[in-house]
Amino acid sequence: MAPSFEPKTPVDLDPPKDTPLTLEQVAQCDGERNQCMWIAIMGTVFDVSKNTKMYGVGKGYHALVGKDASRALGKSSLDAEDVDPKVSWDYSSLNEKQLKTLNDWYTFFSKRYNIVGKLVDLPSTSN
Ligand code: HEM
Repeated sequence: MAPSFEPKTPVDLDPPKDTPLTLEQVAQCDGERNQCMWIAIMGTVFDVSKNTKMYGVGKGYHALVGKDASRALGKSSLDAEDVDPKVSWDYSSLNEKQLKTLNDWYTFFSKRYNIVGKLVDLPSTSN
């Protein structure tokens, strides 16, 4: 990944929204149940609908859509156990290098995709 994460062609982004969203609402935007495609990273929800080549049904990264994919992104994994929406939001098991990767993905997405809201119902992992 390029160090600056800048898109090759400029992307016009809307101001980020802080609309409260639930995991179920994000799950509705999976490109299948509805045409919208959302991916959350550490609770921030990005609209990736415009990138059907990467995220559309049957495409390579479709497994990341309709969930908080923090664990899969941090681990650079598309394994079933990492993209399972029951656990894919949970990045508490990531090591330092994986957390760096996750933060880099957050930066990458924030330069390309509109933020449509924040997850408000992520289970707590602190106790
Ligand atoms: C052999 C393994 C892999 C190869 C060759 C590969 C290759 C690529 C390439 C060529 C791009 C496009 C970069 C660009 O548009 O500038 C990309 C983007 C991406 N890759 Fe991979 N990748 C691999 C594995 C993975 C894995 C395991 C993940 C799991 C998280 C992943 C997640 C992504 C994501 C999220 C994007 C960004 C898509 C976007 O533009 O929004 N990749 N990859």
